[in-house]
Amino acid sequence: MTCSIVGARGYVGLELARLLLHHPRAALTHCFATSEFKLANYLSSKNATRVECLPDSEIFNYLTDVVFLATPAEVSLQLVPKIIAQGKKVIDLSGAFRLKKNDYLAWYGFEHTEKKILAKAQYGLSPWAGPSTGMLIANPGCYATAITLALIPALKNGLINENNIVIDAKSGTTGAGKKASENLLFTEVDGECLPYKVGRHQHYPEIVEAIEVVTNKKIEAHMTTSLLPVRRGIIAGIYSQLHNKKTIKDVEAAFAEAYREYSLISYGNLEASPKLLSLKNVVGTARAHISYKVDGQKLYLFSCIDNLLKGAASQAIENFNRISDLPISTGVSHLEALT
Ligand SMILES: NC(=O)c1ccc[n+]([C@@H]2O[C@H](COP(=O)([O-])OP(=O)(O)OC[C@H]3O[C@@H](n4cnc5c(N)ncnc54)[C@H](OP(=O)(O)O)[C@@H]3O)[C@@H](O)[C@H]2O)c1
Repeated sequence: MTCSIVGARGYVGLELARLLLHHPRAALTHCFATSEFKLANYLSSKNATRVECLPDSEIFNYLTDVVFLATPAEVSLQLVPKIIAQGKKVIDLSGAFRLKKNDYLAWYGFEHTEKKILAKAQYGLSPWAGPSTGMLIANPGCYATAITLALIPALKNGLINENNIVIDAKSGTTGAGKKASENLLFTEVDGECLPYKVGRHQHYPEIVEAIEVVTNKKIEAHMTTSLLPVRRGIIAGIYSQLHNKKTIKDVEAAFAEAYREYSLISYGNLEASPKLLSLKNVVGTARAHISYKVDGQKLYLFSCIDNLLKGAASQAIENFNRISDLPISTGVSHLEALT
């Protein structure tokens, strides 16, 4: 299948290009950026020189079978209707088509103008999303991926109360994209770990909706997000209370049932698998590492991912595989940690 990337020069766009160039069934033919750019200046693969890089004004002259949008949400909102109207499939990595029930003005700061397309968009949380349907996949957000993957097994199996959850998630600075801003200067970030958007992060409603779809439970949680002084990686600590009579054995069984068939999540007891609690061991891979600890009725969950891969580009490749009827981990299972 032919593929193209809009926003190819951004952090996520370049990771997508890197993965697509080595994917056995994808042909990356075009990349688009707002100004002149060459993929070969960023990626050393010989194939990078064969990809035609063009300005955004050319997108509709070179539409491919699948178009990946690694663009801000407002840009995706404008592009998606026009691309799918031409019969081409879209995997959108922005938040523009993720929230079915929540208000875009409140969480993203713009009115959603494409409600019919939004209603049909498929939320591509892998491995929970079913077979691919329709023309548009909304690729999940990075925090949302780490947090929902950890919470779903516990909620689906009735181990915890949906109203008793505290989430403390931290991300490397690439999570904010490469656009310059004062708070992301090295001198501001280095040596700090500051919370931001406390209780107001736009991934919160996404997490609530995604969990409700899979488990039928509507969570009400405290959630803070903080910026880590590292380039990439998310670590989410999630704290809750096991229902009476539920034990570590129930937690183990819930995770095994959820993920034993899915090779891109490693899970285990924190004491037995300490390596799961490490950004270095997950960054560079397409995996999620989820660890748990039970102390009496207290449940501690930790979820680590690479925000640019499982939290964005490699999950988008999983969604491409779903569209293409390929095994879900095709083209991403070999990725090694960057330790
Ligand atoms: N960073 C993450 O960890 C992460 C994880 C999951 C999802 N996402 C989402 O993925 C998308 C891309 O994120 P990113 O981190 O890669 O951001 P980024 O590094 O800032 O890149 C965004 C890209 O969008 C392009 N762009 C900006 N304004 C545009 C416009 N008006 N028209 C066309 N293109 C425009 C830019 O192109 P030029 O460079 O050519 O100007 C840039 O390359 C965002 O929606 C983000 O929320 C990011």
